[in-house]
Amino acid sequence: MVYPIVKYGDPVLEREAETVTDFDDPELHKLLEDMFESMYAAKGVGLAAPQIGIARKIAVIDCSNGQNPAEKLVLINPQVVKVEGKQVGEEGCLSIPGFREQVKRGKRVTVRAQNAKGEPFEMTGEDLLARAFQHETDHLYGRLYISHISALKRDLIRRKVKKLARAGEWA
Ligand code: NI
Repeated sequence: MVYPIVKYGDPVLEREAETVTDFDDPELHKLLEDMFESMYAAKGVGLAAPQIGIARKIAVIDCSNGQNPAEKLVLINPQVVKVEGKQVGEEGCLSIPGFREQVKRGKRVTVRAQNAKGEPFEMTGEDLLARAFQHETDHLYGRLYISHISALKRDLIRRKVKKLARAGEWA
């Protein structure tokens, strides 16, 4: 099932999600499938559960855009444990469609998370994957990428979004 993507302005995107504790829940596996399906439908490389209105610490990532099953990643209760180097590049978010900004991130990022079975693991990614690790983990703590840009640029996006919302073009 493809879920609609929740847009910037919805409070679910700006509060910390809940830690997942029940890994025997059959609905968790259905939810993970639906998250991949929703992410591919929206042409994203990452999706966090709050973006489909579910306030739980779950994210999916696929930097291959569905081209390579080996790149499908599930991060449950992730934490960024190491950040090395830096990269500056354009970043966007499915919840803030139509906008992209230059964002500084780590070049090499290590996350500690649990997989779909609840087993803990650590993984290090570089470049786009490093950026996705930081972006998606941020989502689960209620932080959007625009919290990493200047207040001036953030306010500009906020004003444009308000205008689109008033025109009924932001839902
Ligand atoms: Ni995002």
